[in-house]
Amino acid sequence: MNTFGTLFRLTCFGESHGAALGGVIDGCPAGVVVDEAFVQAQLDRRRPGQSALTTSRNEADKVQFLSGIFEGKTTGTPIGFVIYNTNQHSGDYSQISEVYRPSHADYTYNQKYGFRDYRGGGRSSARETACRVVAGALAQLLLKQAGLNIQIQATITQAGGSTDVEQAILAAKQQGDTIGGIISCTITGVPAGWGEPVFDKLHAKLGAAMLSINAVKGFDYGAGFDIVDKRGSEVNDVFETDADGNVVTRTNYSGGIQGGISNGMPITFRVAFKPVPTLMQPQETIDKEGNVVTLQPKGRHDACVLPRAVPIVEAMAAMVLADAYLLQRNSRL
Ligand SMILES: Cc1cc2nc3c(=O)[nH]c(=O)nc-3n(C[C@H](O)[C@H](O)[C@H](O)COP(=O)(O)O)c2cc1C
Repeated sequence: MNTFGTLFRLTCFGESHGAALGGVIDGCPAGVVVDEAFVQAQLDRRRPGQSALTTSRNEADKVQFLSGIFEGKTTGTPIGFVIYNTNQHSGDYSQISEVYRPSHADYTYNQKYGFRDYRGGGRSSARETACRVVAGALAQLLLKQAGLNIQIQATITQAGGSTDVEQAILAAKQQGDTIGGIISCTITGVPAGWGEPVFDKLHAKLGAAMLSINAVKGFDYGAGFDIVDKRGSEVNDVFETDADGNVVTRTNYSGGIQGGISNGMPITFRVAFKPVPTLMQPQETIDKEGNVVTLQPKGRHDACVLPRAVPIVEAMAAMVLADAYLLQRNSRL
């Protein structure tokens, strides 16, 4: 539903063109020093209107904490926060109130709920992901202050069919079209032993986290889908000890996770994003009555979600890891 996580848990609310978005982070231990500048900096990375590669919507995305923090530290009680919507142009969306945008969520929301807040896509808008970034920043602060040196680094490795990300996005934008691509993420510093067998395997949690992000079509970890035509003798990760006597593996086709539990090697995964559904060119579709209509380009949309999705991927990974860390503290005497 609208809650993610087992112990470190985000419940979020809000629509693209409502009064505000916000959330409640529950299960964050007391004593985490909340560096609000860090939280805001993460939000700013996701914010649109910052470069020629993203939509010109200029959303302020200022987070205001409402509870759970006293004298700069978490108190252990629910952390409420809000982000007011300030740059809505709801008129841009009146033409889609009766029609279904191809590959967006208009038809499915209508079928599920009977009607929908069509302004800016309502709850299906990726504006919701701002709340994930706030919770992810808190999760990062928790992990750091727990004394862990975990680095989560997501990066765009492919846009459309190209590795020249900027050129590919600008070319698509110029043509009024959109592209997808791949974000690859590497996490270092996770100790061996995190993750819950059987249903809450670490990669299953990461997969659920990533697949819950708007426009995500695929997730794989380690060698992923590339492993299917390899032999075991080629891709088994041989154990050895390093110069300090730590157990490591010679290769990392497992992507740092075996049996759903971290093995201490870098955790690696990839997330595939589809092209943005809204095009800056006419598209044929149907309205609620089944009449064929042509959608004219209107509104302010991303030509490619990837530049803005990088901090979202990192935030979701941080939440999964904060949860895994807290759960791991209960796993043995
Ligand atoms: C950061 C980000 C920005 C997005 N911006 C837009 C946008 O400007 N216009 C649009 O039509 N879809 C945009 N999307 C994609 C839609 O939110 C998404 O395609 C839609 O909700 C349907 O969900 P699905 O693609 O996961 O099936 C964006 C997604 C992300 C992650």
